[in-house]
Amino acid sequence: MDKIRNFSIIAHVDHGKSTISDRFIELCGDFNTREMSEQILDSMDIERERGITIKAQNVTLYYKSLDKELYQLNFIDTPGHIDFSYEVSRSLAACEGALLVIDASQGVEAQTLANCYTAMEMNLKIIPILNKVDLLTADVNRSIQEIESIIGINATDIICCSAKTGFGIKNVLESVVRNIPPPIGDPDTSLQALIIDSWFDNYLGVISLIRIKNGILKKNDEIKIMSTKKTYRVEKIGIFTPKRLEKDTLFCGEVGWLVCSIKDLLGAPVGDTITTKYNSSIVPLKGFKKIKPRMYAGLFPINPSEYEMFRNALIKLSLNDASLSYEPECSTSLGFGFRCGFLGLLHMEVIQERLEREYNINIIITAPNVIYEVLTTQNTILYVENPSKLPPPQNIKELREPIADCNILVPRKYIGMVIALCIEKRGIQISMIFHPNQIELRYEIPMSEIILNFFDRLKSITHGYASMEYSFKCFKASNIVCMDILINKERVDTLSCIVHKEYVSYRGKEFVKMLQSLLPRHQFDITIQAAIGKRIIASSTVKQFRKNVIEKCYGGDVSRKKKLLEKQKKGKKRLKQLGNIRLPREAFLSILNMGKKNEKRIDDL
Ligand code: GTP
Repeated sequence: MDKIRNFSIIAHVDHGKSTISDRFIELCGDFNTREMSEQILDSMDIERERGITIKAQNVTLYYKSLDKELYQLNFIDTPGHIDFSYEVSRSLAACEGALLVIDASQGVEAQTLANCYTAMEMNLKIIPILNKVDLLTADVNRSIQEIESIIGINATDIICCSAKTGFGIKNVLESVVRNIPPPIGDPDTSLQALIIDSWFDNYLGVISLIRIKNGILKKNDEIKIMSTKKTYRVEKIGIFTPKRLEKDTLFCGEVGWLVCSIKDLLGAPVGDTITTKYNSSIVPLKGFKKIKPRMYAGLFPINPSEYEMFRNALIKLSLNDASLSYEPECSTSLGFGFRCGFLGLLHMEVIQERLEREYNINIIITAPNVIYEVLTTQNTILYVENPSKLPPPQNIKELREPIADCNILVPRKYIGMVIALCIEKRGIQISMIFHPNQIELRYEIPMSEIILNFFDRLKSITHGYASMEYSFKCFKASNIVCMDILINKERVDTLSCIVHKEYVSYRGKEFVKMLQSLLPRHQFDITIQAAIGKRIIASSTVKQFRKNVIEKCYGGDVSRKKKLLEKQKKGKKRLKQLGNIRLPREAFLSILNMGKKNEKRIDDL
């Protein structure tokens, strides 16, 4: 066991985690040049297209150190985007150490800080590394200054490397074997293994990634999943090199995969403990903290007959992505679907794309919103994650919205613009700390404003230089109301949203205008209105197509023309009564594009 090292690679997005992993695999793995590709661990199509890591990936490599000892390195490449931070915290739970990668040309960014604190909370040994030193813009001294001043760890003997050229990679591995402690555990007691991740394979059933905490696991062993109490026979076990390599035994301290032909999609929950079949004395391991979604949106299959398929796909996806939650929902405008909880807009987009690509289901997503706390007049507390489910206004004593604690790191030159954006988003400043090259801003901002394109606008006004990280802080009473959208006088429940009273008339007008540009013209006029209760606050009309029915009448009696126009009018009236307006998919998410005009205004500052 003293030759095993389990560690995660953590960093801000794009600081080079996956590329460093490539170099490790190149140095120690059994891949030849032909099999090797860039960012080999980002195996999903979406990951490759977007150039981001979405799923944490485990690899086992054997490294011969300078003192000629052979070490087994189990490392996990993690995602850097805040929407996938749950993957990071779960991966860290399986490790004794973490490589904190920092891009020498960017310095410390918000997610570097957040991930580093998560690792510190878990008492992991942290090894900071400066990557991308080959770049002309790399500034090693500035980055060291920032690590010491912003994160607060000593970085005088930091390792510099370049994942692109391979410079310094051996030093990183040497530091790993020297500084990260070996796993602790007793190989001679009963089996205790933690399920880190699970996914579904159509041929093998559920495959789980496990970490053996105590005991050993052998092929053909009889095991028990502690929460379900169900027993299985171990059919295959092994490690990822990153190819799936079969083994006969997984020893104490190792991380590997397990197949037991579990066909039940919920048969091996992530965070559960595995033990031997007849062992009832073992206590379950501390699993993972359950994460609460930051935002909710309705997902509806475009084709209602795909509902069952959609449900199955969601179960499979949530097995692979523990931060996705779902529950059935029925809407008057879109029929049966699911209300799903996500960690952010990117997470929502990725799930939509995975559903469409991996499961071939076309869906409509409604505008996302956050969860609200409602104090009713009977003094009960309700949590509402769907604006159309809010109790009537006369039953609400107080409506509270979630507030996020935001940490923004921004170069000095952009500070004015960032503060203007935070004010526009109803933010309250908590602190402003001046570091050598950047300013650390702490703001309390309503979560609903953050999910409404805050991140994109922050990136856009600072030309990509600002970074931010946020977490839920508390619920606060706020002056918010539910804004309904009526199309031809009928309320569309999936377009309702909750807005602050101060912004409601402005946002109502903007939303209505946006819908007007998105709705296709019909044979009759379509009125679009925004309303609060019965009060209409904005209105607009999509004009009908009009056929010139009197085109063919040259001269002649005027009564003939009148008759034709009268006939057309009657026909249109009938159409309007029967008319079924189809909303385009983009209409449901158009609310996310609001505030673009202000962006220009702030840019001009
Ligand atoms: P996420 O998983 O999305 O958080 O990104 P990541 O941290 O895994 O970064 P990734 O390895 O995908 O690298 C991001 C970009 O930086 C890629 O275009 C890499 O080619 C580039 N890159 C990584 N390391 C280096 C380096 O040492 N030098 C240079 N010049 N570029 C690098």
